[in-house]
Amino acid sequence: MAEAPASPDFQALLRRWLKPVVFAAALLPLAWYAWRAANGALGANPIEATTRYFGDWALRFLLIALAVTPVRLVFGWTGVGRLRRMLGLFAFFYVALHVMSYVGLDLFFDLPLLLQEILKRRYITVGMFALVILIALAVTSTDAMVRRLGGKRWRRLHMFVYPAAIAGVIHYYMMVRAGFLEPLIYALILAGLFAVRILKRR
Ligand code: HEM
Repeated sequence: MAEAPASPDFQALLRRWLKPVVFAAALLPLAWYAWRAANGALGANPIEATTRYFGDWALRFLLIALAVTPVRLVFGWTGVGRLRRMLGLFAFFYVALHVMSYVGLDLFFDLPLLLQEILKRRYITVGMFALVILIALAVTSTDAMVRRLGGKRWRRLHMFVYPAAIAGVIHYYMMVRAGFLEPLIYALILAGLFAVRILKRR
């Protein structure tokens, strides 16, 4: 049986509230962190817990942002496209918190030490590669930048979100000493999203 189209009222409501609701929801991980930090509930090693927590959410938001186009292609729900930039910027926001917690709380902003770490630890090198891409994408995410670069060039540049996400997953895989299941799950989700995009575009 064909699905009844959503009523215009419902569509208008969705158009109005979708973005603010998703925005508020995207801040929940930060609120949960703040609550735990304020109540001394970050565990025995709060600095490590902080870096890891924001690293997890950075990767999750990267995948959520990457899921927007496949959701649009599979379910034909075009409205979700309006969330892509916001979700991408939230991914960048959580990456920034992740890196700041490492550089600030762990290394006390010792930049020569950061350089040593980048050269010494391969997983940090790979993380930096992802970070550089995400900075370029965040800087060029504005409407003015889309106009300046031109749609085609802008889209080509923003396809680099895939190498950034792959590097994010590899970074995670390289840093875990045991329990490779989680990075594997992220890798499978990423591969699935990419496959949908390729297959549906044909
Ligand atoms: C797209 C960029 C990045 C993503 C998505 C990402 C994600 C992650 C994830 C998922 C973890 C593991 C969390 C866990 O064990 O539950 C992690 C750990 C870590 N990341 Fe990143 N990361 C990124 C970039 C970086 C960069 C640029 C640096 C350093 C400059 C960095 C430093 C670290 C460190 C030090 C850890 C280990 C934390 C610890 O065990 O104390 N990451 N990251």
